[in-house]
Order: sequence, then structure tokens, then C-alpha cells
Amino acid sequence: MKGKSLVSITDYSKDDILRVLSAAKEFEKNPNQQILQGKVVATLFFEPSTRTRLSFETAANRLGARVIGFSDAATSSTSKGETLKDTIKMVSNYADVIVMRHHIEGAARYASEVTDVPVINAGDGANQHPTQTMLDLFTIQQTQGRLNDINITMVGDLKYGRTVHSLIMAMSHFSPTFNFVAPNELAMPEKYKLFCKENNIPFLDLKELSQDVIGNTDILYMTRVQKERFSDLMEYERVKNVYTLCASMLGNTRPNMKVLHPLPRVGEIANDVDDTPQAYYFQQAKNGMYARQAVICDALGLI
Ligand code: CP
Repeated sequence: MKGKSLVSITDYSKDDILRVLSAAKEFEKNPNQQILQGKVVATLFFEPSTRTRLSFETAANRLGARVIGFSDAATSSTSKGETLKDTIKMVSNYADVIVMRHHIEGAARYASEVTDVPVINAGDGANQHPTQTMLDLFTIQQTQGRLNDINITMVGDLKYGRTVHSLIMAMSHFSPTFNFVAPNELAMPEKYKLFCKENNIPFLDLKELSQDVIGNTDILYMTRVQKERFSDLMEYERVKNVYTLCASMLGNTRPNMKVLHPLPRVGEIANDVDDTPQAYYFQQAKNGMYARQAVICDALGLI
């Protein structure tokens, strides 16, 4: 029987999202359980990662699974010319679930179509990062006490930032409002703005991260300019430092306001923000472990 892959956040209904978040909350209370004893989780990372790979592997280890895989495709037979299809078919012989990050948009969907083993997308190019979205939702719920009627200001690389694309789609179930703050070169792609319009989600397209915008925000979602997606490095140099959030910009925020970032950060959040009550990105990354425990168990039909 085909497993339950998570390739796009749209693979989850609203009920699925709430069910998996509820399981993640239980894992937060008790992350060490033997639910996955006897299972093998494969982590195939064709692109670099710190948080996603290590939190998936920690999630699996804490639930009693064994982990196989690679963190650098150069050490796999991909470097000898093996196709993605053959790689996935081989790993399917060994593992109960495959977690994959790939630089090509659509690679995770393709992988899920050539195997009966569930595939979890750990990021495919500039397309989707659905498990990041699950941990972002978990964090929003944790900090705001709800998911409904949240104002989210997304800042930075909204063109290539796959985490913001997945988050918009997931939040569409919860009546959000958005501010999209980006320079022209990194503006939110039309298809996501069209998605907002079709789902009656109000949004503003802005160029400046003003005090006024920050003051009316519940979640300030900063993003890194994704150097690896630029074909023209001169263009990257022009926009790389376009926004830097400093502690002095957080003097007049809503009391519930939190700063999130999928990380890694480069220059978009100054170190002095780390000591403000609004900084929440390190706890957000920790939440990835609980969210991924829930996603793995869901993919295996265990919650
Ligand atoms: N947020 C995130 O995907 O981080 P990594 O690239 O370190 O996995």
C-alpha cells in the first residue's frame, strides 16, 4: 500500500494540519518514546542543511528508529550518474520512510511517484518546505495561543524563499493577513498573490520595513536572501543586505509580537535582537524536532 507522503503543504487538509500539530504538542511533552522501534528512516540531502536534517534525525532517534542516508550527494552514487529515480528505488528497498531535500523544484513529487514508501519533502528548490511550515504553525500557535486572525509580515527574499510560499498556503485555513516586504527583485511571485486573492486573504506589497508595519504585526517572519538560487551574483550583491532588523526597531511592538526566521540567518537579524523578548527563532528551530516527529509518525500511519 502506498504510504502517506508530504510533498506540498497542500497535501494536508486543515484537519490534517490540526491533527499533526496536536501530536507535535504531545511530543513536546514527551519526545522520548519507542513508537518507531524497528523502523528505518532515510535522510537524503542533495542540498546542504543543518536544522532540517539534524532535527529529522533527532526526531527519529528519539522515537527509537534507525537512520540511514547522506548529507552530501557527492558521497552517493549520484556523483557517478545514478538517476534520482534509481536512487529512490534503491533506498525504498531499505527504509520505511524517505526524507529528501533536493535543489530541483518538483523533485520530491517525482520521488513520491516512483516509490510506495512515503516521501517527506525537506525542501525542493524555491518551491516548498512543508515540514518547516508545520514547525512555523506550531510556533505561531505556541506564541499567539491561536492560529486564526494573525497578521504576518514576511520580509526579505519572498521570491526564492520556499518557507514563505508554504506558510501562505497553510495559513489560508486560518484567516490571516499578510504584509509582503521585499525589493522588486525579490518580490512575492504573482502565483502566491493570486492564491491570496482567490482565497480572500488581504495582503499589502511593501518595499520598506517601517515602524508602522512592525507595530501592527503579530509575527515578523524574516528570511535570508537565498544566494544559491541566483544565476546572477551581481544581482545578489545588490540586494543581499536590503533589510537588517535591529533591537532598536522593536521598541513599539504588540506585546504578543515575535520575530521568527527559518534560519540560517546571514545579515538580516542583528545579534542584538537575540536578547529581546521578541526573538523566538531559536525556540522555533527547536520546535522542528517535535513537528517532525509528528510528521514522520503521520507518514507511517502511526497517529
Ligand atoms: N530552516 C532550514 O531549512 O534550515 P536548514 O537549511 O539548516 O535545514
